[in-house]
Amino acid sequence: MSRAAPRPLRLALAGFGNVGRTFAELLPGPYGRALRAEGAAPVVTAIFTNRHGAAIDPRGLPLRRALRLVRAGGSLDALHRGPPVASALDLVRRAPADVLVELTPLAPTTGEPAISLARAALGRGLHVVTANKGPVAHARARLARLAARNGVRFLHEGAVLDGTPVFNLVERCLPGARILGFRGLLNSTTTRVLAGMEAGASFEAALADAQRAGVAEADPRHDLEGWDAAVKACALANALMGADVRPAAVERRGITGLGPEDVRAARGRGAVLRLVARARRDGRAVRVSVGPEEVADGDVLVSRGADGVLVLETDLMREIGIWEGAGGVDQTAYAILSDLVAIARGRRRR
Ligand SMILES: NC(=O)c1ccc[n+]([C@@H]2O[C@H](COP(=O)([O-])OP(=O)(O)OC[C@H]3O[C@@H](n4cnc5c(N)ncnc54)[C@H](OP(=O)(O)O)[C@@H]3O)[C@@H](O)[C@H]2O)c1
Repeated sequence: MSRAAPRPLRLALAGFGNVGRTFAELLPGPYGRALRAEGAAPVVTAIFTNRHGAAIDPRGLPLRRALRLVRAGGSLDALHRGPPVASALDLVRRAPADVLVELTPLAPTTGEPAISLARAALGRGLHVVTANKGPVAHARARLARLAARNGVRFLHEGAVLDGTPVFNLVERCLPGARILGFRGLLNSTTTRVLAGMEAGASFEAALADAQRAGVAEADPRHDLEGWDAAVKACALANALMGADVRPAAVERRGITGLGPEDVRAARGRGAVLRLVARARRDGRAVRVSVGPEEVADGDVLVSRGADGVLVLETDLMREIGIWEGAGGVDQTAYAILSDLVAIARGRRRR
């Protein structure tokens, strides 16, 4: 029996930075093969950047040329056809696309511009795939409702633990199970700083190591003060537990006040200090917290070489642990692929 030819899956990329470019590099190779195996032939018809121009071409943009242009500091405008693109929102409203791949930077306190872009795309019947935790933490319920009304998906596997399956795992592999709560290490900078102090470094030296390894930002305050973990914990609680918690409502403490003496004291009690994110049901509400905790040696959260660990507590399957080794751009680009495969499979079933 002959298989039907793959149907085009037209992608508009809002954001063409580290993740967007890695995704674009792999699309003509293994990612394209994975999608075609699901009956979808991916074609990028629109790209928006902040400082490197924007381009729309309904016939498909030449990805290798787009990558060369942006890497050389040039502009994508050279590849554009039609009236100029005024803004990211303008591109999302006009792009001849089936999916918006939203990869703009995180704004931890507002979730913008990602929320507005996602809303515009879902409103005109495009699926949305994002690695940005902002819209999941600030507007997941609203966006998921809008997607459902328009018969499309709002997917965000890359928002927490990069490409390690969390959201898709629960949706596809835990039918009927209810998530009662979770605990996890969701921020690799704080794990590395605390582990560095355990190995004898000062706070500052451990942080500098994490920055050299490309894990911590030049301005690491969001990580050290627990904001990054709080945004991720909200994304998890909102998506997995049906909560509607915002980062500002998270009971949050960071690790900035801790030093080697605290780490040594915990060691003396057979424990290590870690920044732990937690959520639990409290009646109809869901309480989310982030703070340093002494975690007993041997606990699954204390695992060498892990950039992230998450333990889900469920009703029908008890505890399930998810472990991520070194994570980063490659894993996040993979999350985009896995969400697109989910969309391609859904399209096929219909
Ligand atoms: N990097 C990772 O390992 C990782 C892991 C998990 C999740 N994420 C999330 O994935 C998303 C993308 O990350 P990234 O590392 O690719 O970021 P990035 O390298 O900073 O790229 C961001 C892209 O968005 C464009 N942009 C900036 N401001 C914009 C605006 N206001 N409106 C529209 N576009 C704008 C930038 O334009 P220019 O090209 O002109 O600068 C760039 O193309 C972020 O939300 C991040 O939190 C990243």
